[in-house]
Amino acid sequence: LRGVPQSLSAKFVGSFAYLTVRDRLPTILTKVIDTIHRNKNKFFEEHGEEGVQAEKRAISFLSKLRNELQTDKPVLALTDDGEDTDVWNQYLQRQQALMDEQEPPSWFKSPWLYVECYMYRRIQESILLNPPICAFDAFREAKTQSYFESQQATMAICTYLQGLNKNRNEFSEEQLLNQFLTLLQVSLWGNKCDLSISAGQENSQKSSPVDALGELKPYILVDDSSSVWSVLTSGAAPGRSATGRGRVDIVLDNAGFELVTDLVLADFLVASGLAKQVHFHGKSMPWFVSDATREDFHWTVKQTMAANHRWMSKSGAQWHRYLKDGTWRYHDHPFWTLPHEFSEMAADAPDLYAALQTADLIFFKGDLNYRKLTGDRHWAHTETFARALRGFQPAPLCSLRTLKANVQVGLQPNQGENLTAQEPQWMTSGVYAVIQFSSPLRE
Ligand code: F6P
Ligand code: MG
Repeated sequence: LRGVPQSLSAKFVGSFAYLTVRDRLPTILTKVIDTIHRNKNKFFEEHGEEGVQAEKRAISFLSKLRNELQTDKPVLALTDDGEDTDVWNQYLQRQQALMDEQEPPSWFKSPWLYVECYMYRRIQESILLNPPICAFDAFREAKTQSYFESQQATMAICTYLQGLNKNRNEFSEEQLLNQFLTLLQVSLWGNKCDLSISAGQENSQKSSPVDALGELKPYILVDDSSSVWSVLTSGAAPGRSATGRGRVDIVLDNAGFELVTDLVLADFLVASGLAKQVHFHGKSMPWFVSDATREDFHWTVKQTMAANHRWMSKSGAQWHRYLKDGTWRYHDHPFWTLPHEFSEMAADAPDLYAALQTADLIFFKGDLNYRKLTGDRHWAHTETFARALRGFQPAPLCSLRTLKANVQVGLQPNQGENLTAQEPQWMTSGVYAVIQFSSPLRE
Protein backbone atom coordinates (compact mmCIF):
# COMPACT_ATOMS: atom_id res chain seq x y z
CA LEU A 1 0.00 0.00 0.00
CA ARG A 2 2.32 2.67 -1.27
CA GLY A 3 1.87 6.16 0.15
CA VAL A 4 -0.57 4.99 2.78
CA PRO A 5 0.56 5.13 6.40
CA GLN A 6 0.86 2.03 8.55
CA SER A 7 -2.05 0.71 10.58
CA LEU A 8 -2.24 1.36 14.31
CA SER A 9 -1.11 -1.82 16.03
CA ALA A 10 -0.14 -3.30 19.38
CA LYS A 11 3.27 -3.89 17.86
CA PHE A 12 3.98 -0.27 18.79
CA VAL A 13 4.75 -1.00 22.42
CA GLY A 14 3.29 1.57 24.80
CA SER A 15 0.77 2.89 22.23
CA PHE A 16 -2.94 3.03 23.06
CA ALA A 17 -3.46 0.06 20.72
CA TYR A 18 -0.87 -1.89 22.70
CA LEU A 19 -2.46 -1.02 26.04
CA THR A 20 -5.89 -1.93 24.72
CA VAL A 21 -4.80 -5.35 23.49
CA ARG A 22 -2.75 -5.99 26.61
CA ASP A 23 -5.19 -4.76 29.26
CA ARG A 24 -8.64 -3.86 28.04
CA LEU A 25 -9.47 -6.73 25.71
CA PRO A 26 -8.68 -9.47 28.26
CA THR A 27 -10.80 -7.59 30.81
CA ILE A 28 -13.71 -7.53 28.38
CA LEU A 29 -13.33 -11.27 27.77
CA THR A 30 -13.30 -11.91 31.51
CA LYS A 31 -16.53 -9.92 31.85
CA VAL A 32 -18.15 -11.94 29.08
CA ILE A 33 -17.19 -15.19 30.80
CA ASP A 34 -18.55 -13.87 34.05
CA THR A 35 -21.83 -12.76 32.45
CA ILE A 36 -22.40 -16.14 30.82
CA HIS A 37 -21.73 -17.86 34.09
CA ARG A 38 -24.00 -15.57 36.09
CA ASN A 39 -26.82 -16.04 33.59
CA LYS A 40 -26.48 -19.77 33.57
CA ASN A 41 -29.86 -20.55 35.06
CA LYS A 42 -31.65 -17.80 33.20
CA PHE A 43 -30.59 -18.61 29.64
CA PHE A 44 -28.81 -21.91 29.58
CA GLU A 45 -30.22 -24.30 32.14
CA GLU A 46 -33.74 -23.87 30.87
CA HIS A 47 -32.59 -25.91 27.89
CA GLY A 48 -31.81 -28.83 30.18
CA GLU A 49 -28.61 -30.83 29.96
CA GLU A 50 -27.90 -29.50 26.45
CA GLY A 51 -27.93 -25.94 27.82
CA VAL A 52 -25.70 -26.82 30.75
CA GLN A 53 -23.11 -28.33 28.42
CA ALA A 54 -23.37 -25.37 26.02
CA GLU A 55 -22.60 -22.96 28.86
CA LYS A 56 -19.57 -25.00 29.92
CA ARG A 57 -18.20 -25.28 26.39
CA ALA A 58 -18.69 -21.57 25.66
CA ILE A 59 -16.81 -20.63 28.83
CA SER A 60 -13.93 -22.95 28.11
CA PHE A 61 -13.76 -21.63 24.51
CA LEU A 62 -13.58 -18.05 25.78
CA SER A 63 -10.94 -18.83 28.42
CA LYS A 64 -8.84 -20.40 25.70
CA LEU A 65 -9.38 -17.35 23.52
CA ARG A 66 -8.21 -15.07 26.34
CA ASN A 67 -5.11 -17.17 26.69
CA GLU A 68 -4.40 -17.03 22.94
CA LEU A 69 -4.65 -13.26 23.10
CA GLN A 70 -2.46 -12.83 26.14
CA THR A 71 0.27 -15.07 24.78
CA ASP A 72 0.15 -13.50 21.30
CA LYS A 73 -0.81 -16.70 19.50
CA PRO A 74 -1.54 -16.70 15.76
CA VAL A 75 -5.01 -15.60 14.70
CA LEU A 76 -7.05 -18.74 13.93
CA ALA A 77 -9.59 -19.26 11.18
CA LEU A 78 -13.23 -19.31 12.26
CA THR A 79 -14.86 -22.71 12.53
CA ASP A 80 -18.57 -21.88 12.75
CA ASP A 81 -20.94 -21.66 9.81
CA GLY A 82 -22.02 -18.05 10.07
CA GLU A 83 -22.96 -16.20 6.88
CA ASP A 84 -19.75 -14.16 7.20
CA THR A 85 -17.35 -16.98 8.14
CA ASP A 86 -15.79 -17.32 4.68
CA VAL A 87 -15.26 -13.59 4.37
CA TRP A 88 -13.47 -13.52 7.72
CA ASN A 89 -11.26 -16.42 6.75
CA GLN A 90 -10.41 -14.79 3.43
CA TYR A 91 -9.56 -11.62 5.30
CA LEU A 92 -7.16 -13.62 7.46
CA GLN A 93 -5.37 -14.64 4.27
CA ARG A 94 -5.14 -11.00 3.26
CA GLN A 95 -3.58 -10.23 6.63
CA GLN A 96 -1.18 -13.12 6.12
CA ALA A 97 -0.09 -11.63 2.81
CA LEU A 98 0.66 -8.33 4.56
CA MET A 99 2.90 -9.95 7.19
CA ASP A 100 6.64 -10.38 6.79
CA GLU A 101 7.57 -13.73 5.32
CA GLN A 102 7.11 -16.40 7.97
CA GLU A 103 5.20 -14.59 10.64
CA PRO A 104 1.50 -15.35 11.00
CA PRO A 105 -1.05 -12.64 11.87
CA SER A 106 -1.27 -12.40 15.66
CA TRP A 107 -2.83 -10.33 18.42
CA PHE A 108 0.15 -8.11 19.12
CA LYS A 109 1.57 -7.94 15.60
CA SER A 110 -1.42 -7.41 13.32
CA PRO A 111 -3.41 -4.20 12.85
CA TRP A 112 -5.32 -3.27 16.01
CA LEU A 113 -8.55 -2.68 14.09
CA TYR A 114 -8.39 -6.21 12.72
CA VAL A 115 -7.66 -8.03 15.97
CA GLU A 116 -10.14 -5.99 17.99
CA CYS A 117 -12.97 -6.74 15.54
CA TYR A 118 -11.80 -10.36 15.43
CA MET A 119 -12.16 -10.69 19.20
CA TYR A 120 -15.84 -9.74 19.04
CA ARG A 121 -16.37 -12.15 16.17
CA ARG A 122 -14.73 -14.94 18.19
CA ILE A 123 -17.08 -14.20 21.10
CA GLN A 124 -19.88 -14.71 18.60
CA GLU A 125 -18.23 -17.95 17.48
CA SER A 126 -18.34 -19.22 21.08
CA ILE A 127 -22.10 -18.76 21.00
CA LEU A 128 -22.68 -20.07 17.46
CA LEU A 129 -20.70 -23.23 18.13
CA ASN A 130 -22.72 -24.01 21.21
CA PRO A 131 -26.40 -24.26 20.45
CA PRO A 132 -29.16 -24.08 21.61
CA ILE A 133 -28.44 -20.50 22.74
CA CYS A 134 -27.60 -18.81 19.45
CA ALA A 135 -28.94 -15.37 20.19
CA PHE A 136 -27.28 -14.73 23.53
CA ASP A 137 -25.96 -11.17 23.88
CA ALA A 138 -23.39 -11.06 26.68
CA PHE A 139 -23.47 -7.26 26.62
CA ARG A 140 -27.24 -6.81 26.84
CA GLU A 141 -27.31 -6.37 30.62
CA ALA A 142 -24.71 -3.61 30.41
CA LYS A 143 -26.55 -1.86 27.58
CA THR A 144 -29.88 -2.03 29.40
CA GLN A 145 -28.33 -0.69 32.55
CA SER A 146 -26.75 2.20 30.69
CA TYR A 147 -30.15 3.13 29.23
CA PHE A 148 -31.76 3.19 32.67
CA GLU A 149 -28.89 5.11 34.24
CA SER A 150 -29.40 7.93 31.79
CA GLN A 151 -33.14 8.35 32.41
CA GLN A 152 -32.80 11.91 33.73
CA ALA A 153 -30.87 13.04 30.69
CA THR A 154 -33.33 11.21 28.42
CA MET A 155 -36.27 12.97 30.05
CA ALA A 156 -34.50 16.30 29.61
CA ILE A 157 -33.75 15.78 25.94
CA CYS A 158 -37.22 14.42 25.12
CA THR A 159 -38.80 17.39 26.91
CA TYR A 160 -36.60 19.71 24.85
CA LEU A 161 -37.56 17.92 21.62
CA GLN A 162 -41.28 18.06 22.32
CA GLY A 163 -40.97 21.77 23.16
CA LEU A 164 -39.47 22.35 19.71
CA ASN A 165 -42.04 20.23 17.95
CA LYS A 166 -44.92 22.10 19.62
CA ASN A 167 -43.75 25.53 18.51
CA ARG A 168 -42.42 24.37 15.17
CA ASN A 169 -44.36 26.83 12.98
CA GLU A 170 -43.12 29.93 14.75
CA PHE A 171 -39.43 29.44 14.12
CA SER A 172 -37.31 31.54 11.79
CA GLU A 173 -34.64 29.96 9.58
CA GLU A 174 -32.01 31.13 12.05
CA GLN A 175 -33.79 29.56 14.99
CA LEU A 176 -34.12 26.34 13.06
CA LEU A 177 -30.39 26.38 12.39
CA ASN A 178 -29.65 26.89 16.08
CA GLN A 179 -31.91 24.03 17.05
CA PHE A 180 -30.25 21.82 14.49
CA LEU A 181 -26.79 22.71 15.84
CA THR A 182 -27.98 21.98 19.37
CA LEU A 183 -29.31 18.52 18.55
CA LEU A 184 -26.32 17.72 16.35
CA GLN A 185 -24.02 18.47 19.30
CA VAL A 186 -26.20 16.50 21.70
CA SER A 187 -25.86 13.52 19.37
CA LEU A 188 -22.11 14.17 19.08
CA TRP A 189 -21.56 14.23 22.84
CA GLY A 190 -23.87 11.27 23.23
CA ASN A 191 -20.89 9.35 21.86
CA LYS A 192 -19.08 9.93 25.14
CA CYS A 193 -21.47 7.38 26.60
CA ASP A 194 -19.99 4.14 25.47
CA LEU A 195 -20.63 2.72 28.87
CA SER A 196 -17.79 4.47 30.69
CA ILE A 197 -18.08 8.24 30.56
CA SER A 198 -21.72 9.10 30.36
CA ALA A 199 -23.55 12.38 30.55
CA GLY A 200 -26.48 10.22 31.52
CA GLN A 201 -24.77 8.66 34.49
CA GLU A 202 -25.09 11.84 36.48
CA ASN A 203 -28.68 11.60 37.48
CA SER A 204 -29.51 15.21 38.00
CA GLN A 205 -31.43 17.70 35.94
CA LYS A 206 -28.44 20.02 35.73
CA SER A 207 -26.74 17.37 33.65
CA SER A 208 -29.26 18.16 30.92
CA PRO A 209 -27.31 17.52 27.75
CA VAL A 210 -28.49 20.80 26.23
CA ASP A 211 -27.23 22.96 29.12
CA ALA A 212 -23.76 21.46 28.93
CA LEU A 213 -23.17 22.31 25.26
CA GLY A 214 -21.67 25.77 25.78
CA GLU A 215 -18.95 24.45 28.05
CA LEU A 216 -18.16 21.61 25.67
CA LYS A 217 -17.84 23.81 22.57
CA PRO A 218 -14.07 24.48 22.92
CA TYR A 219 -13.46 20.72 22.82
CA ILE A 220 -14.80 20.39 19.27
CA LEU A 221 -11.57 20.37 17.26
CA VAL A 222 -13.13 20.40 13.80
CA ASP A 223 -16.60 21.80 13.32
CA ASP A 224 -18.00 21.44 9.80
CA SER A 225 -21.63 21.83 10.89
CA SER A 226 -22.20 24.66 8.42
CA SER A 227 -21.40 22.32 5.51
CA VAL A 228 -23.80 19.75 6.93
CA TRP A 229 -26.48 22.44 7.19
CA SER A 230 -25.86 23.47 3.57
CA VAL A 231 -26.42 19.92 2.38
CA LEU A 232 -29.62 19.63 4.38
CA THR A 233 -31.02 22.93 3.17
CA SER A 234 -29.81 23.07 -0.42
CA GLY A 235 -32.27 20.46 -1.63
CA ALA A 236 -29.43 18.60 -3.27
CA ALA A 237 -25.85 17.93 -2.42
CA PRO A 238 -23.26 19.35 -4.82
CA GLY A 239 -23.05 17.18 -7.87
CA ARG A 240 -26.23 15.30 -7.12
CA SER A 241 -29.62 15.51 -8.76
CA ALA A 242 -32.10 17.89 -7.17
CA THR A 243 -34.31 15.24 -5.65
CA GLY A 244 -35.37 17.60 -2.92
CA ARG A 245 -34.72 17.24 0.76
CA GLY A 246 -34.51 13.57 1.06
CA ARG A 247 -32.83 10.75 2.81
CA VAL A 248 -30.49 10.96 5.75
CA ASP A 249 -28.69 7.83 6.92
CA ILE A 250 -27.30 7.37 10.41
CA VAL A 251 -24.69 4.68 10.87
CA LEU A 252 -25.27 4.04 14.55
CA ASP A 253 -22.78 3.42 17.29
CA ASN A 254 -23.76 2.78 20.90
CA ALA A 255 -27.05 1.78 22.48
CA GLY A 256 -28.06 3.56 25.71
CA PHE A 257 -28.07 7.34 25.87
CA GLU A 258 -26.18 7.79 22.59
CA LEU A 259 -28.92 5.97 20.69
CA VAL A 260 -31.55 8.17 22.34
CA THR A 261 -29.69 11.28 21.13
CA ASP A 262 -29.58 9.82 17.60
CA LEU A 263 -33.31 9.15 17.64
CA VAL A 264 -33.94 12.69 18.87
CA LEU A 265 -31.81 14.11 16.05
CA ALA A 266 -33.64 11.94 13.52
CA ASP A 267 -37.02 13.05 14.91
CA PHE A 268 -35.99 16.69 14.60
CA LEU A 269 -34.76 16.24 11.01
CA VAL A 270 -38.08 14.76 9.93
CA ALA A 271 -40.37 17.01 11.98
CA SER A 272 -38.60 20.14 10.72
CA GLY A 273 -38.77 18.99 7.09
CA LEU A 274 -34.97 18.82 6.76
CA ALA A 275 -35.30 15.15 5.83
CA LYS A 276 -38.11 13.03 4.46
CA GLN A 277 -36.68 9.70 5.52
CA VAL A 278 -34.09 8.49 7.98
CA HIS A 279 -32.37 5.15 7.56
CA PHE A 280 -30.54 3.70 10.57
CA HIS A 281 -27.76 1.14 10.30
CA GLY A 282 -26.97 -1.12 13.25
CA LYS A 283 -24.89 -4.18 14.04
CA SER A 284 -25.97 -7.73 13.33
CA MET A 285 -24.16 -9.20 16.35
CA PRO A 286 -23.07 -7.97 19.77
CA TRP A 287 -20.17 -5.63 19.03
CA PHE A 288 -17.62 -3.47 20.90
CA VAL A 289 -19.65 -3.93 24.09
CA SER A 290 -22.23 -1.20 23.68
CA ASP A 291 -22.97 -1.01 19.93
CA ALA A 292 -26.65 -1.07 19.02
CA THR A 293 -28.16 -4.19 17.48
CA ARG A 294 -31.64 -4.56 16.00
CA GLU A 295 -32.91 -5.79 19.37
CA ASP A 296 -31.37 -2.84 21.20
CA PHE A 297 -32.87 -0.43 18.69
CA HIS A 298 -36.44 -1.69 18.98
CA TRP A 299 -36.13 -2.22 22.73
CA THR A 300 -35.08 1.42 23.15
CA VAL A 301 -38.03 2.73 21.16
CA LYS A 302 -40.44 0.53 23.13
CA GLN A 303 -38.96 1.46 26.51
CA THR A 304 -39.13 5.14 25.70
CA MET A 305 -42.73 4.76 24.56
CA ALA A 306 -43.62 2.94 27.79
CA ALA A 307 -41.87 5.42 30.08
CA ASN A 308 -43.79 7.00 32.88
CA HIS A 309 -42.92 10.48 31.69
CA ARG A 310 -45.14 12.51 29.42
CA TRP A 311 -42.55 13.77 26.93
CA MET A 312 -40.54 10.58 26.85
CA SER A 313 -43.57 8.45 26.07
CA LYS A 314 -44.76 10.98 23.50
CA SER A 315 -41.35 10.85 21.78
CA GLY A 316 -41.27 7.04 21.90
CA ALA A 317 -44.77 6.81 20.42
CA GLN A 318 -43.78 9.13 17.58
CA TRP A 319 -40.65 7.04 16.86
CA HIS A 320 -42.79 3.94 16.80
CA ARG A 321 -45.10 5.58 14.24
CA TYR A 322 -42.15 6.67 12.08
CA LEU A 323 -40.94 3.08 12.00
CA LYS A 324 -44.39 1.76 11.20
CA ASP A 325 -45.09 4.13 8.33
CA GLY A 326 -41.60 3.74 6.83
CA THR A 327 -40.42 7.30 7.50
CA TRP A 328 -37.72 5.61 9.53
CA ARG A 329 -36.09 2.34 8.57
CA TYR A 330 -33.68 0.12 10.37
CA HIS A 331 -31.13 -1.97 8.47
CA ASP A 332 -28.30 -4.22 9.34
CA HIS A 333 -25.62 -5.59 7.04
CA PRO A 334 -22.81 -8.05 7.78
CA PHE A 335 -20.25 -5.53 6.50
CA TRP A 336 -20.61 -3.38 9.64
CA THR A 337 -19.24 -6.24 11.74
CA LEU A 338 -16.31 -7.07 9.48
CA PRO A 339 -12.83 -5.70 10.13
CA HIS A 340 -12.66 -3.89 6.79
CA GLU A 341 -11.78 -0.27 6.31
CA PHE A 342 -14.66 1.56 4.65
CA SER A 343 -12.48 2.25 1.60
CA GLU A 344 -12.97 -1.45 0.86
CA MET A 345 -16.77 -1.30 0.95
CA ALA A 346 -17.34 -0.55 -2.74
CA ALA A 347 -15.46 -3.73 -3.71
CA ASP A 348 -16.41 -6.00 -0.81
CA ALA A 349 -20.00 -4.97 -0.09
CA PRO A 350 -21.19 -3.28 -3.32
CA ASP A 351 -24.86 -3.67 -2.33
CA LEU A 352 -24.32 -1.67 0.86
CA TYR A 353 -22.25 0.93 -0.97
CA ALA A 354 -25.02 1.33 -3.57
CA ALA A 355 -27.62 1.69 -0.81
CA LEU A 356 -25.59 4.44 0.87
CA GLN A 357 -25.24 6.21 -2.47
CA THR A 358 -28.97 6.87 -2.43
CA ALA A 359 -28.62 8.94 0.75
CA ASP A 360 -28.34 12.73 0.57
CA LEU A 361 -26.29 12.77 3.74
CA ILE A 362 -24.76 10.08 5.97
CA PHE A 363 -23.83 10.50 9.62
CA PHE A 364 -21.22 8.12 10.99
CA LYS A 365 -21.46 7.96 14.74
CA GLY A 366 -18.57 7.33 17.05
CA ASP A 367 -14.97 6.38 17.28
CA LEU A 368 -14.92 2.95 15.68
CA ASN A 369 -16.67 4.28 12.58
CA TYR A 370 -14.03 7.04 12.39
CA ARG A 371 -11.28 4.46 12.63
CA LYS A 372 -12.85 2.55 9.75
CA LEU A 373 -13.41 5.73 7.72
CA THR A 374 -9.72 6.63 8.00
CA GLY A 375 -8.45 3.04 7.95
CA ASP A 376 -7.11 3.38 11.53
CA ARG A 377 -3.74 4.54 10.27
CA HIS A 378 -0.91 6.78 11.37
CA TRP A 379 -2.01 9.76 9.24
CA ALA A 380 -0.44 13.15 9.76
CA HIS A 381 -2.95 15.33 11.62
CA THR A 382 -2.90 17.80 8.74
CA GLU A 383 -3.85 15.16 6.17
CA THR A 384 -7.22 15.99 4.65
CA PHE A 385 -10.25 13.96 5.68
CA ALA A 386 -11.04 13.44 1.98
CA ARG A 387 -7.67 11.80 1.36
CA ALA A 388 -7.84 9.66 4.49
CA LEU A 389 -11.19 8.32 3.20
CA ARG A 390 -9.30 6.85 0.24
CA GLY A 391 -12.18 7.00 -2.18
CA PHE A 392 -14.95 6.11 0.26
CA GLN A 393 -17.48 8.75 -0.63
CA PRO A 394 -20.88 7.21 -1.36
CA ALA A 395 -22.60 10.53 -0.53
CA PRO A 396 -21.85 13.66 1.53
CA LEU A 397 -20.86 12.31 4.91
CA CYS A 398 -20.24 13.59 8.39
CA SER A 399 -18.45 11.92 11.27
CA LEU A 400 -19.75 12.73 14.77
CA ARG A 401 -17.03 11.37 16.99
CA THR A 402 -15.44 11.80 20.38
CA LEU A 403 -11.77 10.85 20.17
CA LYS A 404 -10.85 7.48 21.66
CA ALA A 405 -8.08 6.22 19.37
CA ASN A 406 -4.80 7.59 17.97
CA VAL A 407 -6.06 8.78 14.64
CA GLN A 408 -7.15 12.29 13.76
CA VAL A 409 -6.95 14.06 10.42
CA GLY A 410 -8.06 17.40 9.04
CA LEU A 411 -6.44 19.58 11.72
CA GLN A 412 -4.74 22.95 11.22
CA PRO A 413 -0.94 23.07 11.06
CA ASN A 414 0.43 22.68 14.61
CA GLN A 415 -3.00 22.06 16.14
CA GLY A 416 -2.16 18.42 16.88
CA GLU A 417 1.32 19.25 18.18
CA ASN A 418 -0.05 21.94 20.49
CA LEU A 419 -2.65 19.56 21.86
CA THR A 420 0.00 16.90 22.46
CA ALA A 421 2.12 19.42 24.35
CA GLN A 422 -0.80 20.44 26.59
CA GLU A 423 -2.52 17.13 26.96
CA PRO A 424 -0.67 14.04 25.76
CA GLN A 425 -3.81 11.87 25.92
CA TRP A 426 -6.01 14.17 23.84
CA MET A 427 -6.69 11.52 21.17
CA THR A 428 -7.80 8.78 23.55
CA SER A 429 -9.44 10.46 26.54
CA GLY A 430 -12.88 10.89 24.96
CA VAL A 431 -12.77 14.57 25.95
CA TYR A 432 -12.34 16.01 22.46
CA ALA A 433 -14.64 15.63 19.49
CA VAL A 434 -15.05 16.36 15.80
CA ILE A 435 -17.92 17.15 13.46
CA GLN A 436 -16.07 16.34 10.27
CA PHE A 437 -17.60 16.56 6.82
CA SER A 438 -16.64 15.40 3.36
CA SER A 439 -18.52 15.72 0.12
CA PRO A 440 -17.85 13.96 -3.21
CA LEU A 441 -16.93 17.14 -5.04
CA ARG A 442 -15.26 18.94 -2.21
CA GLU A 443 -11.66 18.27 -3.23
O1 F6P B 1 -10.93 -0.34 22.71
C1 F6P B 1 -11.39 0.91 22.88
C2 F6P B 1 -12.23 1.29 21.78
O2 F6P B 1 -12.20 0.24 20.93
C3 F6P B 1 -11.88 2.54 21.10
O3 F6P B 1 -10.62 2.76 20.87
C4 F6P B 1 -12.93 2.34 20.12
O4 F6P B 1 -12.77 2.80 18.95
C5 F6P B 1 -13.95 2.52 21.17
O5 F6P B 1 -13.54 1.53 22.09
C6 F6P B 1 -15.36 2.38 20.89
O6 F6P B 1 -15.83 3.65 20.78
P1 F6P B 1 -17.14 4.00 20.02
O7 F6P B 1 -18.24 3.36 20.76
O8 F6P B 1 -17.20 5.50 20.06
O9 F6P B 1 -16.99 3.50 18.61
MG1 MG C 1 -19.32 1.67 20.16
